[in-house]
Amino acid sequence: MVKINFGGVEEEIVTREEFPLSKAQEVLKNETLAVIGYGAQGPAQALNLKDNGINVIVGQRKGGKSWDKAIDDGWVEGKNLFEIEAACEKATIIMYLLSDAGQKNQWENVKKYLTANKAIYFSHGFSIAYKEQTGVVPPTDVDIILVGPKGTGSKLRDLFIEGKGVNSSYAVAQDATGKAQHRVKAIGIAIGSGFLFPTTFENEVWSDLTGERGVLMGAMTGIMEAQYELFRKNGHSPSEAFNETVEELTQSLIPLIADRGMDWMYTNCSTTAQRGALDWKGKFKEATMPVFEELYERVKNGIETKNVLEANSNPNYREKLDEELKQMRESEMWQTGTQVRKLRPNKQD
Ligand SMILES: NC(=O)c1ccc[n+]([C@@H]2O[C@H](COP(=O)([O-])OP(=O)(O)OC[C@H]3O[C@@H](n4cnc5c(N)ncnc54)[C@H](OP(=O)(O)O)[C@@H]3O)[C@@H](O)[C@H]2O)c1
Repeated sequence: MVKINFGGVEEEIVTREEFPLSKAQEVLKNETLAVIGYGAQGPAQALNLKDNGINVIVGQRKGGKSWDKAIDDGWVEGKNLFEIEAACEKATIIMYLLSDAGQKNQWENVKKYLTANKAIYFSHGFSIAYKEQTGVVPPTDVDIILVGPKGTGSKLRDLFIEGKGVNSSYAVAQDATGKAQHRVKAIGIAIGSGFLFPTTFENEVWSDLTGERGVLMGAMTGIMEAQYELFRKNGHSPSEAFNETVEELTQSLIPLIADRGMDWMYTNCSTTAQRGALDWKGKFKEATMPVFEELYERVKNGIETKNVLEANSNPNYREKLDEELKQMRESEMWQTGTQVRKLRPNKQD
């Protein structure tokens, strides 16, 4: 672990320098890792582990798109691709990468293969932190570990291929073997993380659920819709409203923030923009803070996860979701976005 100063607060993180891939390979050399689920994270983690020389197999139910994808990616049935229970039986580390609702649903089938000294691995704190809702309670003689990549599965794989990496959090909820810390760090490095920062299962899931409902997705969508509708109500054209709300943000400003921080983005804007934004940012913070407080409280007390599990168990879940996303796609604002993207000089759609 190395100590790094983050804006005045010191944190201990794991980097590839003091925990190189060779060390991860050594730690995992006698383990069989079974990636259960081949959805978004499953393929990325399984392929990165395989390419890094780790002994990995895939467990996936047959008959769906994910099974076909595993075959297309080169996994061979009976050699390194099995049905879920067969893979769990062979594993010393079960990497439980079904959807969160799927983890609840399949738990009884997986649990019986968690014999002494094995490990169960997650990429989200959900199932363990909300065990009263999910029923996911591993036996006391196995390790319970987590690596949460802070990016999508496709990003984890793409950056790995480019020789880069997504940063990940890691946690140990139960160290039954004395090897849990080594196991979790080795997997974190071997799946292709840039660096690993420590967390707990609770903090991982609370920050993740709040972040996606908040700034990353929910708040961003809501605040964009509000500003777009304001412009339209006041007689601005769709293209003007869209450009001032989304296009300039994603094409011009976010890349600047990503490269060199918020003040750098401000530095690159006009003095008129800088003055106004500095004057108004406090008002937006004040207006949204109570909403964030309410959100965090609902995440912590389990209302949000209860909603997710209930919604996912509805047989019409997929159709309802598709319908909601279709409404979004077909709204004037996002239809305008489709047109605007087509007009980009380097158009992509
Ligand atoms: N998506 C991300 O970018 C991301 C990022 C960080 C962490 N995570 C975490 O990583 C874990 C995996 O998430 P994911 O997004 O990769 O999941 P996902 O894409 O939703 O994966 C679905 C997988 O679960 C299987 N599955 C779902 N329900 C099942 C059931 N009842 N029985 C058997 N198999 C079932 C699916 O098989 P079928 O195709 O046969 O249905 C598929 O293989 C989650 O804990 C998630 O929170 C995800």
